[in-house]
Amino acid sequence: MTDRPPHNTTPHTDTTTAVGTTTRADTAGPLIELADLRKTYHMGTQQVHALAGVNLQLGRGEFWAILGASGSGKSTMLNVLGCLDRPTSGIYRLEGQDVAELDDDALSEFRLRHLGFIFQSFNLIPQLTVRENIELPLYYLGWEADRSADHAAVLAEQVGLADRLDHRPNELSGGQQQRVAVARALANDPPVLLADEPTGNLDSSTSSQIMSLLDELNQNGKTIIMVTHENDIAAHAQHRLHMRDGIIDRIERDA
Ligand SMILES: Nc1ncnc2c1ncn2[C@@H]1O[C@H](COP(=O)(O)OP(=O)(O)OP(=O)(O)O)[C@@H](O)[C@H]1O
Ligand SMILES: [Mg+2]
Repeated sequence: MTDRPPHNTTPHTDTTTAVGTTTRADTAGPLIELADLRKTYHMGTQQVHALAGVNLQLGRGEFWAILGASGSGKSTMLNVLGCLDRPTSGIYRLEGQDVAELDDDALSEFRLRHLGFIFQSFNLIPQLTVRENIELPLYYLGWEADRSADHAAVLAEQVGLADRLDHRPNELSGGQQQRVAVARALANDPPVLLADEPTGNLDSSTSSQIMSLLDELNQNGKTIIMVTHENDIAAHAQHRLHMRDGIIDRIERDA
């Protein structure tokens, strides 16, 4: 990459024995385990129970949709699952690792290795090219420039953007930008992809292209957890979790 992003820490070296990796992985148990998970926000004297005791197990390779009214706790849930936010109490285990045991640095490393993120507003860096955006997680993991540039090209090809590597986000359509975001989320081959309203800013035909891409990734073994308001988008998932006031209201599963 030519245009390195600003950063405060030295990139980690690419070693599988670094802190927070899957060395303690428990591959026999569920991929994700939540036990009495709570997240409470304090607003002055008021408490908001955004998550009010969630118990859930998710298996490897599953595709989950999280649904529910505005304010029901969907984004809070995804942020906690993504280790972007810590729960107030309760247990969150991912591949057997209790994330509460990780300090902030170890948690960042853990996140880089285990989780890929796709957001409603794409969250690409406008100054960076497609290739550089896709390379970002690899940069933070300390990959060598040539290796990560090659890998970014392979991923761009996989999402149908091989001919756009040197473009910047503002030169792409919304659907193309979201495909860059998917490629970036895949860069380090994390077991879990988290998506918060991934089609929320896309028209219906572009939405179906992105959903086909997610379906294909799931068929190839990725675990996907996706927040959505739309039933037809949620129908792509085999497990649909409905939230209400910070708790699980019900779970629907495909037969
Ligand atoms: N940083 C915060 N500080 C205080 N309260 C918060 C914060 N983030 C979320 N909340 C509150 O927690 C509850 C759950 O919010 P959350 O964003 O998880 O809802 P959501 O289901 O994603 O809603 P939407 O569909 O509107 O995105 C809401 O009552 C919200 O106001
Ligand atoms: Mg939300």
